[in-house]
Amino acid sequence: MGYRGSRAALVLVAGLLAGSLSCGHASADELYELGEYLSGDCTACHQLEGRAPGIPPITGWPVEAFVMVMVAYKEGERDHALMQNVARRLSDEDMKALAVFFEKQGQ
Ligand code: HEC
Repeated sequence: MGYRGSRAALVLVAGLLAGSLSCGHASADELYELGEYLSGDCTACHQLEGRAPGIPPITGWPVEAFVMVMVAYKEGERDHALMQNVARRLSDEDMKALAVFFEKQGQ
């Protein structure tokens, strides 16, 4: 019961945050904000400006390409233990949010 109640509350809060109870998809602004929030896990290595030695820049990528690369790491199609670990923790929406955020950086 408590679980159900708190879950309903969560859904309600999420709906209010999304500014709409009818639409399950986050808007571009919401994705950007989520991406900004999640990006803290990435920018320790990937710099928002300039380049860190040995770490490829990930700003200014088209959203589709960015998501494809992240999915490739997550599914193990692209081989890199570290990035695979990072990608496995992300949902599809997280990846899209990160893509939206990083596309707008460094331009
Ligand atoms: C501990 C350091 C580290 C962290 C944290 C990290 N990355 Fe990476 N990332 C790397 C390295 C190193 C590579 C190059 C991997 C390779 O050669 O395939 C890479 C590659 C990538 C690539 C492909 C770049 C290219 O040019 O092919 C993307 C996209 C990417 N990371 C996104 C992210 C995102 C998004 C996050 C946060 C959720 C993140 N990374 C967190 C180190 C990191």
